Amino acid sequence: MTTTVTWLGHGSWSIKTENGTILLDPFLDDSPTAPVKAADVEADYILVSHGHFDHVADVAAIANRTGATVAAVVEIGQWFQDQHGVENTIQMNLGGGITLPFGHLKMTLAHHSSQLPDGTYGGNPAGFLLTIEGKKIYFACDTALFLDMQQIGDAGIDVAVLPIGDLFTMGPTDAVKAVQLLRPIRVVPAHYNTWPPIEQDAGQWATLVHQETEAEPLVLEPGESFEL
Ligand code: NI
Ligand code: MN
Repeated sequence: MTTTVTWLGHGSWSIKTENGTILLDPFLDDSPTAPVKAADVEADYILVSHGHFDHVADVAAIANRTGATVAAVVEIGQWFQDQHGVENTIQMNLGGGITLPFGHLKMTLAHHSSQLPDGTYGGNPAGFLLTIEGKKIYFACDTALFLDMQQIGDAGIDVAVLPIGDLFTMGPTDAVKAVQLLRPIRVVPAHYNTWPPIEQDAGQWATLVHQETEAEPLVLEPGESFEL
């Protein structure tokens, strides 16, 4: 039983499981680094971390084409349902979890902001902790460093996916501190090199992770995958 996790550039991910495909924050058609277009991806579930355009841009089109269920905080789930005719939503909130065919999905804290593109209040931003076939993958999504990551790490994380872009989220230095708090086996950087303001040297960051943590850094190019 393998679970394949593919970086679609920026904060976008595809997770192919034995029991369905999950997309996280699909931002594809207008992303300078996405390896695929929104019309070409499959999904059974679409997880949405918060309301910013670089996370919600292609959600409704993909959900309405595929019938995928959109899982998001209540305010965002309601917005997709009311404003974009998305039929299937899971509306949840921070700290809440749900068991789905692929495994377990828990919504975790994130320190960021969350206004939807039309100005609608998007509730609180979130991250996600997924348990799939006994493996745990944590997506911090857009967030600052926060000390409660230590508690999230108590779950025993196999892979942590962390933003390193700086400016809008934590940058490389804080992301190393996040690895120390989360204590994952492997760590993967995201939310960088999409545009000049968030350009980072991921190789240099991986060297810091090697020096200052026990985790194994895994740096991907958009379109590349790893097995969970
Ligand atoms: Ni954001
Ligand atoms: Mn973002």
